Amino acid sequence: MKIVSKPPTVQPTSANLMLSNGSGQDLKKPVTRSSRAVRIDFVNGATAPESLMDKFVIRGGNPLVGSVRISGAKNAALPAMAAAILTDEPVILENIPDVRDIQTERNLLVSMGAEVELGYGRASHRTTISCSNLVNPQAAYDLVKTMRASTLVLGPLVARMGRARVSQPGGCAIGARPIDLHIKGLEKLGASITQEHGYIEAQAERLHGGHITFDKITVTGTEDLMMAATLAQGETIMENCAREPEVNDLAALLTKMGARIEGAGTHTIRIQGVDKLHGARHRIIPDRIEAGTFVIAAVLTGGDLTLTNCDPSHLGALIQKLEECGVSITPAADSLRVTNGHQLEAADVSTEEYPGFPTDMQAQYMVLATQAQGTSIITENIFENRFMHAQELARMGANIRVEGSRAIVRGKTPLSSAAVQCSDLRASASLVIAALVADGETILDRVYHIDRGYERIEEKLKGVGAQIRRIGEFLPKRTATPSVVA
Ligand code: UD1
Repeated sequence: MKIVSKPPTVQPTSANLMLSNGSGQDLKKPVTRSSRAVRIDFVNGATAPESLMDKFVIRGGNPLVGSVRISGAKNAALPAMAAAILTDEPVILENIPDVRDIQTERNLLVSMGAEVELGYGRASHRTTISCSNLVNPQAAYDLVKTMRASTLVLGPLVARMGRARVSQPGGCAIGARPIDLHIKGLEKLGASITQEHGYIEAQAERLHGGHITFDKITVTGTEDLMMAATLAQGETIMENCAREPEVNDLAALLTKMGARIEGAGTHTIRIQGVDKLHGARHRIIPDRIEAGTFVIAAVLTGGDLTLTNCDPSHLGALIQKLEECGVSITPAADSLRVTNGHQLEAADVSTEEYPGFPTDMQAQYMVLATQAQGTSIITENIFENRFMHAQELARMGANIRVEGSRAIVRGKTPLSSAAVQCSDLRASASLVIAALVADGETILDRVYHIDRGYERIEEKLKGVGAQIRRIGEFLPKRTATPSVVA
């Protein structure tokens, strides 16, 4: 079965909120979400009300034993979906994770006039996007504020349509996160840019090649400008680029679409612009952050876990650090086994751009540090405010002192259950891990943050022995929306 989301014919109102089971059927009834079979679709770009406050109830103490299949990478799927804007032919993407951010991006593309076909059943992780009839080159505030990565449409829209209007994202839970480097880069490619009423408006009859040197390494900035440059006239050279596997994956898709790109995965990327791109079929890489999260959960519960459909070569810095702590990891080509029956030793960590230790694994690693022998110093170099989880972990008994960009974590502190609150995507993952280790029953509030980036995490954990359940609450209150996170 498949469903095609067509462009909206009505204006966005709160009445557009529709609960469905994926078949288009209206399910405006009290909702208990024991499983994700019932999904929440927000038609025409409307966002989730804050009152949709699912919680996790987790009883700690069980080792994670068995096998978990890793989903496709959210951070690779989002730019890949934006890349579909660059062509009027269908782009077919496989291994798309079933997470809230992907729903948001679908809504965004549909609001512009794209047709987005969703696979269901066995084809549930495939999506076909057709941007043959884009009419509204805009990313509205309502969507951008719930997902910053919406700004990835800026470059592709200007390149293909000659104009774009994208809401400025504003600050977020983990730091200021400006997009000035995307804007500077587009100007280098000939776009004229104005900023008014909270929106960035970009225009260019046709972009031309240019020489861009990023002042700072930016992942989505590199992706946004790489997409823009594929349709520019002439050669673009980008220096100080991000080297994350997700950038490489996007370059692979763009190349299948007819783009001419060299050097993706290195600091310097060269792009020869072409007049037109065509459709393509592409399989998204596995999610290295989801894999890393399960690895740490297995380590801390003294488990024996095999991760399938993952790519251990993307986890180099994490594996190296865990081995330093005394963990035993056996990587294979597309799977990885982690076991731990030993005492963990403390090891300091500094987050860095890829191939360094990922900032998206810092919160989860902090939980590990609370259980290791000795004191660990964790330095966060990418975002200025990414220690929100430290306060919640302290409520569970952790001994953590935050000094600017450093967190000093005293190890071997028993964790005890508490009511805790998720503040952003990866902070939430750390609290799930802490709850799996803690004594007693932890209640985790605001798990919509986790649903943004982890596919059915509670089902995957339950499948390998964790005691975790979702409890749902639906109290219609339509004004508030979830805060913005990584
Ligand atoms: C991406 C990831 C996110 C990850 C982050 C760092 C996606 C969808 N998200 O976010 O999960 O945590 O990389 O690995 O892929 N900066 C500027 N100006 C800009 C752009 C960035 O100053 O125009 C700064 C940011 O504030 C931050 C640093 O550069 O301090 C890195 O940010 P960036 O790599 O752009 O993060 P995202 O691409 O937003």
